Amino acid sequence: MIGTARTIHVKAGRTLLIAGPASFQLIEGEASVLGASLDLSRNTVARGKQAPIEIRTSSSFNIILGEEASLEELDGSTIPLSWREAASALAEIGEGITVVIGGADTGKTTLCTFLSNSLILKNRQVAIVDADIGQTDLGPPTTMAAAEVTASVVNLSQVKPSERLFIGLTSPGHAKGKVIRSIKRLVECHTKPGKMVIVNTDGWIEGNEAALYKLQMLDELQPDITLGIGGNETPSILQTGNRTTLPVGSPDIIRERTRIDRRELRVLGYRRYLAGASLRTLRLDGVRLRYCLAPNDLDLRVIPRLQLENLKDAIVGFLDASGFLQEIGVLKDLVRSAKTVKVWSRISDTPSTIEIGDVKLNNEGRELGHLWPQ
Ligand SMILES: Nc1ncnc2c1ncn2[C@@H]1O[C@H](COP(=O)(O)OP(=O)(O)OP(=O)(O)O)[C@@H](O)[C@H]1O
Ligand SMILES: [Mg+2]
Repeated sequence: MIGTARTIHVKAGRTLLIAGPASFQLIEGEASVLGASLDLSRNTVARGKQAPIEIRTSSSFNIILGEEASLEELDGSTIPLSWREAASALAEIGEGITVVIGGADTGKTTLCTFLSNSLILKNRQVAIVDADIGQTDLGPPTTMAAAEVTASVVNLSQVKPSERLFIGLTSPGHAKGKVIRSIKRLVECHTKPGKMVIVNTDGWIEGNEAALYKLQMLDELQPDITLGIGGNETPSILQTGNRTTLPVGSPDIIRERTRIDRRELRVLGYRRYLAGASLRTLRLDGVRLRYCLAPNDLDLRVIPRLQLENLKDAIVGFLDASGFLQEIGVLKDLVRSAKTVKVWSRISDTPSTIEIGDVKLNNEGRELGHLWPQ
């Protein structure tokens, strides 16, 4: 990141709010982010994200601010009281499924991080399922993942996913069934006595279709507790049915993301999983090939040439025999005669299935467009 380093001193009881792109390092003192105590390593704050650093004892930081980053000092904490109450409720329940539902930019991801950290501090077992396929912190966009959380973290992207699934789209509207089935599968991987599975969901809640989708999701998952965060739309979704729901507030200092922030966050997400990629040729013998939303395999012999051409640059998911995602890649060429596919990826194992997703990408992880009309 370009920017000059500076040293900042902050008094106990204050919150240092850093909006990215930025990085910071504690030099002296005691401080925490969302309940995770800081060590002396450097943390990055992506563009469109904020780190609220709570100062326990007078502290010094080395900070680098990128373009459009900002730094602010506040009194007290930015964590709403309702988040602390929700954390206590989860600790009391101790095990089961918690689902966080709310609109875009309401603080869902930050709340999940805070809850997970709070449970870890109380020595509870925690797993996170990040099902926000457009903005997930646990994997590249178009995917969802589950992770066992064993230590408190400043940012969920520091957690290593244990299982990942490929959806192929960055928004759930056309993939509602697949999204719900996938969340259920990931939750089942982690459900066990004494463990709390926290599910982060996408921010699509406005309108009838979205409400029905979220209700169906809740019906399938049967959460022990549902947290409805922010806005006016959320409570009305959650009022139907016989559910244990807890409304929680959205922090006042939420930083809303612009479309550009979201796009840039997705670039970072793809890029992280394309790092170390090269052009690889895979034989298609014994490998199933299908569109991400289609139940049947593609028959290469009957696909019209134009349609084959149109598949170039599409994101692909390489799946193992159990259907879990191994790696993503970018489809460069499908050679019908040689029964091979050329991909830009770091895949090394032979996949069992290749799923073709909707997003078109260049090798640097920039979105070029879509395969299907939006
Ligand atoms: N309690 C808080 N203190 C400081 N900053 C916060 C807090 N909660 C959220 N933010 C900031 O507000 C922004 C939006 O929060 P977050 O990413 O958690 O929302 P979200 O609902 O998950 O958004 P999306 O719909 O994009 O997934 C982020 O920059 C985040 O760092
Ligand atoms: Mg989020």
